[in-house]
Amino acid sequence: MTLSELLPSVGLSAEPKLDGQLWPDETSIGEGADVIVGGVGLSRIAATFGTPCQVLDETHLRRQARMFRRVLPETEVAFASKALPCRSVVRWMAEEGLSVDVSSAGELAIARSVGFPAERILFHGNVKTAEDLKAALAYRVGRIVIDSLDEIDHLAALVTAGQAVMIRVTPGVDPHTHQAIATGVEDQKFGLSLASGAAMEAIGRVLAQPSLRLVGLHCHIGSQIRGVAPYEEAARRMVRLIVDVHARYGVTIGTLDLGGGFAVPYLAGEDSFDVDGLAMRLRGALNFECATGRVPVPRLIIEPGRAIAATAGVTLYRVAAVKRGTRRTFVAVDGGMSDNPRPALYGARYTVRLIARHSNAPRRVCTVVGRHCEAGDVIADDVPLPADIHAGDLIAVPVTGAYHYAMASNYNMVGRPPVVGVRDGRTTLLVRRETEDDLLRRDLAA
Ligand code: LLP
Repeated sequence: MTLSELLPSVGLSAEPKLDGQLWPDETSIGEGADVIVGGVGLSRIAATFGTPCQVLDETHLRRQARMFRRVLPETEVAFASKALPCRSVVRWMAEEGLSVDVSSAGELAIARSVGFPAERILFHGNVKTAEDLKAALAYRVGRIVIDSLDEIDHLAALVTAGQAVMIRVTPGVDPHTHQAIATGVEDQKFGLSLASGAAMEAIGRVLAQPSLRLVGLHCHIGSQIRGVAPYEEAARRMVRLIVDVHARYGVTIGTLDLGGGFAVPYLAGEDSFDVDGLAMRLRGALNFECATGRVPVPRLIIEPGRAIAATAGVTLYRVAAVKRGTRRTFVAVDGGMSDNPRPALYGARYTVRLIARHSNAPRRVCTVVGRHCEAGDVIADDVPLPADIHAGDLIAVPVTGAYHYAMASNYNMVGRPPVVGVRDGRTTLLVRRETEDDLLRRDLAA
């Protein structure tokens, strides 16, 4: 049953407070119900850069990066650039002392373009083409994370100077998240299964390759994972594998990469991931398992993407039309599934806020929809908005910094929105809006 079926269609008129969990740090309400992010009014950003528009709070991003380093001081923190493959952001992460994880030659090109130190780059992916591997080797990336037996031969044939590698293991841990982003369970395309022995076989094969140096094991159990327990379980299983590898091959594996996946709240009342709890539980589990198995405690790597970027982003849309259905009120905006495919892909839910206009009208439960030619093009289902919402209004959607810009498309030949950085009251255009010229340039009309 949906909210609109449960609630009367018209509710109280109190202007909603900002839910601090969902907006960048220090976001406030300014004059005329504007929302101020990074010291800049969102209405000014919309006026200057147009809509739809993605706003990114640099201070918030940097603070999240620092938080991970502070809470896990001995852990290497690698930003998963797939969450927000933007050159400025990757540069900020380099400045904050993070490493970076890339999963294609394109993501590597972003890191390379800002001079990201090669030794702090991890190259991932269940498919790495010859071009991907050549690009990784040419830039001398610190570690390539092997994802299949085929890749071992493929990589060994290309390596000339020796290459540090890790092996991605599927530990068989259920992270209790959407199945499209649960990657640590058995019977799937990522990694080499621990249970079936494929991981051990891959380890043996890598050790037999003189040009490859096995420096660590990796697992990434999924994304938007709310609890700490699946990480603890994965860490225990991975250490037991390290113990078995030591017994079998006499090799000590010194690094354990536990991937990313730390959840963020998208809706009011949802909790942030307990990073302190993670640090504590991992420390206990690793110490215990390593002492039991008589291996040294490995150095840890984690790869947060969403937890660094998501809450730093706010997307602005202009309302184009309001339409009454037989049951629902549709608020149609000038973006949609081309800038946010997440509701369609994962049933993701968002909150929406009218900005830059006071309204005393009662709240009505609305469905915010996009401009694309599909009924499933929904930005937010069942959200309360003032009953007098009308064409021309501005709305803002928080928690849109991760996997939005990254996953945007040109469906219906709509240009992708710009990314505007805010910091200390100033705006910087980080990525410009895609134009029709951009769109036509690739199509050679031959
Ligand atoms: N490391 C590896 C190897 C990964 O594959 C990923 C994400 C991460 C780290 C970062 O995970 P995060 O901390 O951002 O959850 N498009 C989906 C999410 C896909 C995640 C893919 N891998 C979404 O919009 O929810």
